[in-house]
Amino acid sequence: MDRPLRVAALVSGRGSNLAALIAARLPIDMVLVGSDKAKAGALQVARDAGIPTVAFSPKDYADRAAFDRALFGAVADAQPDLLVLAGYMRIIDAAVVADWAGRAINIHPSLLPKYQGLHTHRRCLEAGDTEHGASVHYVTAELDGGPVVAQARIAVGPADTEETLAQRLLVEEHKLLPAVVGAIATGRLRWNGQPLFDGTPLTCPLDITHL
Ligand code: GRF
Repeated sequence: MDRPLRVAALVSGRGSNLAALIAARLPIDMVLVGSDKAKAGALQVARDAGIPTVAFSPKDYADRAAFDRALFGAVADAQPDLLVLAGYMRIIDAAVVADWAGRAINIHPSLLPKYQGLHTHRRCLEAGDTEHGASVHYVTAELDGGPVVAQARIAVGPADTEETLAQRLLVEEHKLLPAVVGAIATGRLRWNGQPLFDGTPLTCPLDITHL
C-alpha cells in the first residue's frame, strides 16, 4: 500500500489499549473511534488525540442487528482498511461481522482458545494454570473464536490474584496490539481467507517476540 493504513477502533472502556496504539506512532491514520458507551474513557483518549469519535446507545435501537448496522455503518463511512476492537465489550451481529471478515481484529486477555468470554484472569487462576496471556485474533461470528495471529505470555505465580494478573497482562497487551497493527500496516500480516505472515499461512499464533 502506498498510503498509511486507515484504522478505526471500537471501544467500551477506559481505552488503555487505544492509548497504547496511538502512542506507538505506527504508520497508520486513525480515522474514527466508535463506542456503545458515550461516557467511555476511551472516547476521551481519542478526542485528546484529535481522532473523530462517534457513540451510539444500544437502547435507542430495536435490537442488536439494528444497533450494529448503525454503529458499523458509521465505521464503514470512515472507510477504514482495518477495524480494531480495543476493549469493545458487545457481541456483534453475525451478519455485520461477516461484512468485516479479514478486516477486523480483537484483543482478548487469555491464551485463546482458552477462556473465551469474560473473567479470563479468574478462570486461569481457578484452573491452576502456570501461564496466562493475551491474544489478538481476526474477528468471526464466534465470540473470541476467530483465527489467532499473535500472543503474549506471562507466568502465573502462587501470589497472583485476578488484579495482579490483569495489571501485568495489560502491560503486555499494550505491546501486543500495536505490534499486530504494525505488522498489518507494513503488509507483513495479511488476510487471504486465512492469516498470512510474510506470505505463509499461520499454522499457530505468532509469539509477540517474533513481531
Ligand atoms: C483489555 O483487557 C482487553 O483485552 C479486553 O478489555 C480490556 C480493555 O481495556 N478486551 P482498555 O479499555 O483497553 O483499557
